Amino acid sequence: MPSLKQGEFVGSLDCGTTSSRFLIFDKYANIVAQHQVEYPQYYPEPGWHDQDSDEIVESCDICIDKACAALEAAGWSKDSVKAIGITNQRETAVVWSKKTGKPLTHAIVWDDTRTKNVVAHFEHKLANEGIEVQPGQFRKGADALRQLTGLPLSTYFSAMKLRWMIDHLPEVKKAHDADDLAFGTVESWLVFRLSGGTKNNLHISEVSNASRTLLMNLRTLEWDPVLVKFFGFKPSVLPKIVSSSEVYGEIAYGPLKGVKIAGLAGDQQAAMVGNKCLQEGDAKCTYGTGAFLLFCTGSDIVQSKHGLLSTVNYQNGPGAKPVYALEGSIAVAGSAIKWLRDSMDMVKTAEEVNTLAGSVPDTGGIYFVTAFSGLLAPYWDPGAAGLIIGLTSYTTPAHLARATLEANAFQTREILESMKLDSKQELRNLKVDGGMTNGDLVMEVLADVGGFTIVRPEMRESTALGSAILAGSAVRLFGWDISKPETLAEVNTKGTRDFKPSMPHEEREKRWRGWKRAVERSRGWDE
Ligand code: G3P
Repeated sequence: MPSLKQGEFVGSLDCGTTSSRFLIFDKYANIVAQHQVEYPQYYPEPGWHDQDSDEIVESCDICIDKACAALEAAGWSKDSVKAIGITNQRETAVVWSKKTGKPLTHAIVWDDTRTKNVVAHFEHKLANEGIEVQPGQFRKGADALRQLTGLPLSTYFSAMKLRWMIDHLPEVKKAHDADDLAFGTVESWLVFRLSGGTKNNLHISEVSNASRTLLMNLRTLEWDPVLVKFFGFKPSVLPKIVSSSEVYGEIAYGPLKGVKIAGLAGDQQAAMVGNKCLQEGDAKCTYGTGAFLLFCTGSDIVQSKHGLLSTVNYQNGPGAKPVYALEGSIAVAGSAIKWLRDSMDMVKTAEEVNTLAGSVPDTGGIYFVTAFSGLLAPYWDPGAAGLIIGLTSYTTPAHLARATLEANAFQTREILESMKLDSKQELRNLKVDGGMTNGDLVMEVLADVGGFTIVRPEMRESTALGSAILAGSAVRLFGWDISKPETLAEVNTKGTRDFKPSMPHEEREKRWRGWKRAVERSRGWDE
């Protein structure tokens, strides 16, 4: 075998909701090698969504092994990988035993809604007792929580899932009582395992992920003791909060043994970095399992009055001033396509949905409110139910396929309308990425039904690229420094393609009114 070349590359482990990927980038953001693996999802009861935490790690290990093999097959030594970043599905809760390092139960995934009763309990507690903001001084109502965390009370966030586990699973409760319980989001779990598990006992959570738990104070970037007490957790379960770009530890095994883990971010925040949305006014929407529109608000925390979240965008190193964002979260985007394929058996591949939807000019008057996990932004209604309305004997699977794409567009418009009201700025162009944006028809429907211009970059691996940039920046690889955007000038300079709306205004507004009526019918179904 000819000797392998030495290069300088940065790796990114992207652990999304349904699959893990490992990508290796050069300094221009070209992908030198990659591997992707889907991992099993478990839906034990309606509204429940589990993952096996060990299977998550196995899928990541396979991706790293196979991508490194591909790198070598391309003639490069694996020692060319100088650092890695990790990015992940966010609010998914993982628990393990500090003593054994073993998971105590399955992870509860971000879109799981089993915690509706937990939410109702804390809603009641918030309204009646309130949060003790100063000794003996209580602040009541949902706003009290939003002020501290930037978040509404919802099944979406990790604290609800952790509470459910402690309340329903004796082995988790026992570990909590004995100070043996370690809680984390997916990046916490992956760092713990990749860095050697109980050998090094790294128990950390990156700040953009921590900002999705309902336990972190958005201003101090620390776990807020007031919130930890309100939700009834022992402080010992919580990881140490760390920045998005610093050296946290090293990989302890496998082909990248000894390589530094130097960047961490929730996948939506990483996509902001990968799109170079680093400054106030920058925005993007990523269409993956769900869809998430983030608008960077710089060093300001903008408190939404229109159903959006305030969240950490990134923190460039320990002690650095955080950069914040407003976010509109849509729980169901690509997962509705997957549902048509896997549960309804309507198509064999996700791409076929586009062909089917493209075979009809419109939805034949139907609307599909994809509220599989209630509705997130801007409604935050766990009681909303999935609904198809307007059915007639004329309706075919093609109309349903098209209505699925339209649901995506209507929900994006809802977020943009809230964003306009909160930020007082109008986003005329929407930069998009994520697996679902590969289809041209999806883009056309988005532009037509949404009524805005869609800007689709040629390079759409921005989530993985973002965590690679955070890691590269921490070790100053290629001279990258995210606090100086000019150092990223050579990164990802590929072009974009625009999709402009062509539907007549009256037609668009008529459909919009139909959508709003459909949403009202879907709400409050599950009492
Ligand atoms: O908040 C959930 C989000 O992080 C999941 O992302 O890409 O798996 O849809 P994705």
